[in-house]
Amino acid sequence: MPRTEFISTGFHVPERVVSNAELTQWWETSDEWIRERSGIRERHWVEGGKQAGSDLALEATRIALERADMQPGDLDCIIYATLSPDHFFPGSGVYLQRKLGVPGIPALDVRNQCTGFLYALSVADGWIRMGQYRRILVVGAEVHSTGMDFGPAGRDLGVLFGDGAGAVILGPTGDDGRGVLSTHLFADGRHAELLWCESDASAHNPRISHEDLDAGRQYPKMQGRDVFRHAVTRMPETVKLALETNGLGIADVKLLIAHQANLRINEMVAKHLGLREDQVYNNIDRFGNTTAATIPIAIDECVQAGRLARGDLLILTAFGSGFTWGSAAIRW
Ligand code: ACO
Repeated sequence: MPRTEFISTGFHVPERVVSNAELTQWWETSDEWIRERSGIRERHWVEGGKQAGSDLALEATRIALERADMQPGDLDCIIYATLSPDHFFPGSGVYLQRKLGVPGIPALDVRNQCTGFLYALSVADGWIRMGQYRRILVVGAEVHSTGMDFGPAGRDLGVLFGDGAGAVILGPTGDDGRGVLSTHLFADGRHAELLWCESDASAHNPRISHEDLDAGRQYPKMQGRDVFRHAVTRMPETVKLALETNGLGIADVKLLIAHQANLRINEMVAKHLGLREDQVYNNIDRFGNTTAATIPIAIDECVQAGRLARGDLLILTAFGSGFTWGSAAIRW
């Protein structure tokens, strides 16, 4: 069975940069609080109503295609991870497919929030290994800024999120030592309501009511401390599992890219694992939490900065709403 290699990567964020100071026009907060508690300095937001997540995904994909010297028609399959789809249905994958001008190829949406990219990568890896598809585009793309509560109740979550997209093109490699070595995925639905968006919802009738709107149930809600506590436990666990599965140790890790939800979480994860600073990559200061897009954006930045060379061991891990979490080990 072939392994799955990363053929190319790309990312795109909207032009508009929103600083922490800018957020004080809506919320009672400060640059100091946001930097100290989350590590975020700024984020990118779309011009609301003019750019959808699939537009960001399209730009990220164009870059990845160009770097691979490929055309959209060379793709066999699209897997699109997002918690903020352009519409309730159909999925965003079909919009991206339409914008790429490649009717016919399958387009799968993955709805696993911050772990979405890892779930998508794992599905793509399985399909490539079994020979079902040879060129799979995996995208993580989010537009959070149009779904925020700009009233006082929205502050805690509103300061954390940014918009953006990351894309990777995957394919089989004949080199058995390289590529995706393993993926591990987990979920625990007992905690679903600790980080969720309640409405609109087919579980309700009507799906959304005036009462829901008045109560702000259309906005995401998070029990931050609980999420934090689980994240700092689950991510190290799953990184250790990735290493053990492959007979590897911490010293073998060239780079750990963890989901970018909070710099303090990632610092605790690195400390717990005994990783040196140069073994870890964070970019939350510039992008905030872009959910399914954080990992592919960070991978692309590392590739462009020359921080990943052929043969390096890359470990990915994520934790988020669901709860869902997981890891991947990749020999670059
Ligand atoms: N500005 C100013 N003050 C604030 C802000 C803000 N933006 N947000 C909260 N505060 C206040 C609180 O009201 C509280 O005040 P109080 O002490 O008077 O009650 C105080 O600051 C401390 O609040 P905490 O919630 O305890 O702050 P904490 O240090 O836990 O940081 C945070 C909050 C950043 C949300 C953190 O808990 C966190 O990062 N949690 C995990 C996030 C995460 O991993 N999400 C998963 C991925 S997202 C996804 O899957 C979609």
